[in-house]
Amino acid sequence: MTILEVKNLSKIYGQGDNRVVALDNINLSVNEGDFIAIVGSSGSGKSTLLHLLGGVDYPTQGTVTINGTDIYSLSPDNLAIFRRRQVGLVYQFYNLISVLNVVDNITLPIELDAQKIPQDYLDEILHTLQLTTRKKHLPHQLSGGQQQRVSIGRALISKPAIFLADEPTGNLDSDNSKEIISLLKLSNQKYNQTIIMITHDLDIAMQANRVITLKDGKIVKDEVIRV
Ligand SMILES: Nc1ncnc2c1ncn2[C@@H]1O[C@H](COP(=O)(O)OP(=O)(O)O)[C@@H](O)[C@H]1O
Ligand SMILES: [Mg+2]
Repeated sequence: MTILEVKNLSKIYGQGDNRVVALDNINLSVNEGDFIAIVGSSGSGKSTLLHLLGGVDYPTQGTVTINGTDIYSLSPDNLAIFRRRQVGLVYQFYNLISVLNVVDNITLPIELDAQKIPQDYLDEILHTLQLTTRKKHLPHQLSGGQQQRVSIGRALISKPAIFLADEPTGNLDSDNSKEIISLLKLSNQKYNQTIIMITHDLDIAMQANRVITLKDGKIVKDEVIRV
C-alpha cells in the first residue's frame, strides 16, 4: 500500500541573486512499512524535502499525499492537526520541553490533541526505549541518547503514518547511534512503521531497506537494498 506519494515537488528559496532551487521536481512513492535512508552532500536538499514531507513548510510547486490526504490542500489549522496525528518528526537536537518529564514529553502530542493516553502502548514504548526507570526525569537529567529516545517516543506515540528523522544520530556517539538505529528498525519491523531518515553516515544508511540519494535538489539514485 502506498502511504506517501510526492508529485512534481519543487522548493525555491529567495529571489533574484538569492534564488536557490532547493528541490527540483521530486517524484517519490513510499510504501507502508518502508524504511528509507536519504543521503546526499550538505546542501543537496535533504532537510527541505523532509520538511515538505512532514507538512512543516510549503512547497513552491507540487503535491504531497499522505494516507490519501493532499496535505497542502488543507487549511493551516487542519494541516497542524494532520501533522500532529499522522507525522512523527525527530531532529538532531531533541527539542524536548525542558519543564516536562519523560512521560509528559512523550505524551504531549496526545495531550495537545485532547485524546486519551494509550497507557499500554505508552508502557510498551517506555520499555522498548529503556526509559521505564526514567519516567519522572526532566530532560536535563538525561543523557543525549536518552533524550533522543524520548523524542523518538514522542514521535511514535500517535502511531503516525510516517516517521521522519533528520540526522537523528548526528549528535550521538557511535554506541548511542547504534542503539537509536536498532530502535528505529524495531519499530519498523514490529509496528510496520514507515520511516524516512536523513543521514550522512553510509553505515547507518545501509541499515535501511531503501536508499535515496539527492544531489542539487534532485533524486539521482533510488535503490532497494533489502526486501
Ligand atoms: N530557509 C532557507 N532560505 C534560503 N535558502 C535555504 C533555506 N533553507 C535551505 N536553503 C538552501 O537550500 C539548499 C538545500 O538546503 P537543505 O535542504 O538544508 O540541504 P541539506 O539538508 O541536504 O544540507 C541549500 O542550498 C540551502 O542553502
Ligand atoms: Mg540538512
